[in-house]
Amino acid sequence: MLEQTNRLRYFNIFLDSIERQDKEVIEAFGHHVHWGYWDSNNLADGSVEDFRRAAEELSIKMCEAGRIRDNQKVLDVGCGFGGTIATINNRYKYMDLVGVNIDERQLSRARQIVKPAETNKVEFVEADACKLPFENSSFDVVLAVECIFHFPSRELFFKEAKRVLKPGGCLALCDFTPVDMVMPWVGVLELLFGGLFASAYGQSNLRYNYTLSNYQKLAEETGYRVLQEHDITVNTLPSYLITRQLMRKASPPGLSAELDSVVNQIMEWISRQGLLRYMIFSFKT
Ligand SMILES: C[S@@+](CC[C@H](N)C(=O)[O-])C[C@H]1O[C@@H](n2cnc3c(N)ncnc32)[C@H](O)[C@@H]1O
Repeated sequence: MLEQTNRLRYFNIFLDSIERQDKEVIEAFGHHVHWGYWDSNNLADGSVEDFRRAAEELSIKMCEAGRIRDNQKVLDVGCGFGGTIATINNRYKYMDLVGVNIDERQLSRARQIVKPAETNKVEFVEADACKLPFENSSFDVVLAVECIFHFPSRELFFKEAKRVLKPGGCLALCDFTPVDMVMPWVGVLELLFGGLFASAYGQSNLRYNYTLSNYQKLAEETGYRVLQEHDITVNTLPSYLITRQLMRKASPPGLSAELDSVVNQIMEWISRQGLLRYMIFSFKT
């Protein structure tokens, strides 16, 4: 899995910064590695502490989307440093929590910083989201927080999640979702910006991004019922400026840092034009 993890350049930057004990990066990205959620984007004050609170808020939104409650077995796929597992561990009781990641370096930090609360169990397992090492019908909820665009295939992941979910279980995810009218242009965007994007964020082929209707079709074809389609773009917009500033500070100076910043600005611009939406989805088996 080394090849895949090498391609996650943004994680290499975070891990180096964590090793150097960079307080700002640890505060901003040492737990959650995803966008923040603000009730109103006027509320964002641009500080690192505020971003951390907003990132926690997004994890809470994902718990709500997954209909998480006490006494459940929950799988968080692409779990990063275990931030969302920590949120669930802090908020719910009698939980059996499993985080999966393809990158053992991230899991090792997750094991250090997330300790099970008194009534809960927590485990972190190295695996690919599309080949889950778990028995059929073993989880109540599967979460994928801002990571499905990295997986080898959304379709394979939906099938794997369905296999490991109990009947009536819930899959919740959040993803950057282009609107339908952008899709014919995606080939051009891919040609212009695909290389930039991949250099910053690893595998995530723009051509294979899913629109809302792609998700609805995928859900139907893989045996899920859509529970929730929630457009939270406006609530996440303050993430762009703060992540851009922090990434620039954390990255070694040079072309790559400039490219990261350009990618971030392009994503912000197309999101503000309403062409790329940040969606939370949940599905029932
Ligand atoms: C943007 S980060 C999100 C991390 C975490 N969900 C969070 O919200 O803090 C994307 C995550 O997906 C993980 N990932 C990428 N490809 C994967 C795969 N094929 N299987 C499992 N995890 C994967 C990365 O290692 C990384 O932790």
